[in-house]
Amino acid sequence: MSREPADLTGLQQAFPYPRSASGATTDLASLLISDLKKGGPIPFADYMATCLYHPDLGYYARPEPKTVSKKGDFMTSVSVGSVFGSLLARRLHRFWLANGSPSPFTLLELGAHDGSLACDILDHIETLDPAFASTLSYLISEPLISRQSILQERLQDRATVISNPSVINAEFGAVIANEVLDALPVPLFLYSRGQWHEVMVTTANDILEWSSRPANPDLPDNYPEGYVTEGAPDFKSLLTPLSGAFKNALLMWIDYGLDQEALYHPARTAGTLRCYRNHRSDAHPLDHPGEQDLTADVNFTAIEETARATGLSVHPAMNQSRYLSYCARDWLLAAPSPHAVSQFQTLIHPSQFGNRFYCLELTKGQVERAFP
Ligand SMILES: C[S@@+](CC[C@H](N)C(=O)[O-])C[C@H]1O[C@@H](n2cnc3c(N)ncnc32)[C@H](O)[C@@H]1O
Repeated sequence: MSREPADLTGLQQAFPYPRSASGATTDLASLLISDLKKGGPIPFADYMATCLYHPDLGYYARPEPKTVSKKGDFMTSVSVGSVFGSLLARRLHRFWLANGSPSPFTLLELGAHDGSLACDILDHIETLDPAFASTLSYLISEPLISRQSILQERLQDRATVISNPSVINAEFGAVIANEVLDALPVPLFLYSRGQWHEVMVTTANDILEWSSRPANPDLPDNYPEGYVTEGAPDFKSLLTPLSGAFKNALLMWIDYGLDQEALYHPARTAGTLRCYRNHRSDAHPLDHPGEQDLTADVNFTAIEETARATGLSVHPAMNQSRYLSYCARDWLLAAPSPHAVSQFQTLIHPSQFGNRFYCLELTKGQVERAFP
């Protein structure tokens, strides 16, 4: 492989300057700069992992629940209101009934953030079918210790918070993860001077800067000079313990994303990595470390391939509009309130959550999927 260094102009075009003048002044920036001075450049994926998951200063370790909400940095379907959780509860109920009402039924939520979705699902199941509620063991897997205590305090004895799904050994159950895949650290790549380079983060003059090293990712060749894109996160480390935790299960993933062909289209010259702060997505990835969200669209082709390799069955992903409309059939017939219908419309509207978000179902073992 040629050792000619990359021309980093493509990165400046993908994430335009000027950067914020105060960009590198967060506590986490000072820590990163000090570590980079001692240890040298780090891959972008490691930088992203630190920004999001540093145990004290990471974006998701921050105690305030306002990051994901109407008043925070971005909204999810959960922040629209309780209807999202109600419809997922109905989906789970259907799966439970179709499989002979197994008891106990272990429901594992990943990345529950402030616990709102768990409360919405549990509340709805309790009114929908007390028999289902009585079989339910609700678990939340959350890697950040600070967030674990926030969750346990909110959920009390309605759920048990664990740090890792590998402690689970369940006969029957389900996994639910809303906007977790888009929060996994991704490697960043730059195509320059006829070869791929992995994007690294370094420091110069006491601010964070880009650098690069030659790389050989599993990506096609012959892209335009300066093409920037991201690789898939480590889906294998995520799915392997989940697959091992259940003998029979339904796994539901809801997220924004696209397939590999669209992600790596030559016209998508800047990939999908972006930052969210106060509902704006124009910040620079090297600014405000720990104080802004960093996220990338989910590569659904990659997660499907990893799922198959992990022994899971893959069912066709569908957009949230179609998926929730199937889940909502009986609910709509029961004449919900205008306020609830308005939430439903937001969740399925093409310009809001309906078209950008996809629901991917995976199954493990001998189960009746019961969908649609
Ligand atoms: C965007 S937030 C999720 C938002 C929330 N589910 C909602 O719908 O409002 C991403 C969450 O995923 C969590 N997370 C990241 N990696 C995880 C993993 N491997 N297992 C479980 N949770 C994870 C983060 O700590 C963070 O709380």
